[in-house]
Amino acid sequence: PKGLRVSDKGFLNTAVIQSQITYIDGDAGVLRYRGYPIEQLAQHSTHLETAYLLIYGTLPSEKQLRLFEGEVMSHSFVHADAEHFFRSFRYDAHPMAILTSAFAYLGSYYSEANPSLQGQKLFTARDKASLGNMDRQIFRIIGKATTLAAMAYRIRQGREFVTPPAGLSYTGQFLYQMDHLGQKDYKPSPVLEKALDVLFLLHADHELNASCTTVLQTGSSLVDPYSAIAAGCASLYGPLHGGANEAVIRMLISVGSPENVPAFLAAVKRREKVLSGFGHRVYKTSDPRSFIIRKTADEVFKVTGKDELLETAMALHDAAIKDEYFVKRRLAPNVDFWSGLIYRAMGFPLDFFPVLFAVPRVVGWLAHWRQMMLQEDGVKIWRPRQIYVGSSKRDYVPFDQRP
Ligand code: SDX
Repeated sequence: PKGLRVSDKGFLNTAVIQSQITYIDGDAGVLRYRGYPIEQLAQHSTHLETAYLLIYGTLPSEKQLRLFEGEVMSHSFVHADAEHFFRSFRYDAHPMAILTSAFAYLGSYYSEANPSLQGQKLFTARDKASLGNMDRQIFRIIGKATTLAAMAYRIRQGREFVTPPAGLSYTGQFLYQMDHLGQKDYKPSPVLEKALDVLFLLHADHELNASCTTVLQTGSSLVDPYSAIAAGCASLYGPLHGGANEAVIRMLISVGSPENVPAFLAAVKRREKVLSGFGHRVYKTSDPRSFIIRKTADEVFKVTGKDELLETAMALHDAAIKDEYFVKRRLAPNVDFWSGLIYRAMGFPLDFFPVLFAVPRVVGWLAHWRQMMLQEDGVKIWRPRQIYVGSSKRDYVPFDQRP
């Protein structure tokens, strides 16, 4: 095909859509959701209010927010049969493997979201029925994301599942389901509940990262949103992406102490190790989320006590940001460098950290999926081309003539 050229490796300089949702300036270290600076949202908003903003494009009125919250929270239950599905996993299955499967499983319950049963106009029409159907799937996926995650966690603990409680906040009901100890009037620590809500808000969207691209690539075939979200979850699972918060803690444990930082950085420069939590495809000065998370960590440590890895993390951070090797490559701490220390201090198991990235990120995935479904000129399946560089035409060779 004429005029084709291969995009830079990893889509380095390729834009595949136009979007009104999230703006990033990688050189200035700026992140805005629908034009609102992330710093202001982290200070004044909540994860669910920000979810409304990302999905529908405006800050909700008080009434709109209460309605949205009510819809999402009323969908936090999963069908009782889901317990058999979760129990089919070994106790030591990685929770991201469980969560990825659970999103696809969830879709099998909702025939009104099943494209093969409902035909092609399922979500792309802009009539009231389709918009209502689309919203219901969005409420369900956001509402059930915490419950599915909590059920994956309980498998690891070998403990009974906990029905989502009424009357708690989005992160409050999540913490309740995770660590329900049967206390009658359970109240999660307000500091930890707020800290997790800020972390969720900061992880809600990040324009066209690898997992969001996967959701749109998958959704462009008009498959149901549950399957598209499951695909995004699989992409986020990787250590170069959402798995980095888990990799950072494993890295800090292996470094062991501030004294070992120079030797570790030397190994990174010899490309024997990776400095997880540093570097970003877009941010080339700083990831604005990392500053807010660093501050949130100090709040959390006031309640949980300092994490013994903090000293090593600070020594590694302070050494790397001044080191020529990283400065030259414009490598700065990203969203994952400090977040793992908070999750550890809050008592989450290490391999659960990517799940704490996936749960809030379903909001951004859904916002981009909805934007794609409702685009004026309709949905076009994402089918890139290639430049063929393989063998030219050749004839079949029978066995006795092969070398
Ligand atoms: C997230 O896209 C998003 O927005 C993602 C995210 C989101 O919110 O969705 O922000 C969340 O995924 C944050 C990133 C989490 N990943 C990690 O922390 C893993 C460690 N980081 C690297 O693997 C890397 O920085 C990436 C994957 C994040 C970015 O890779 P790029 O853009 O492809 O950059 P690159 O690999 O081309 O690196 C450029 C140079 C190379 O050196 P040279 O070969 O040119 O000499 O920098 C080096 C790389 O070797 N490099 C690193 C490094 N990251 C890049 N060297 C050591 N340690 C690192 N972490």
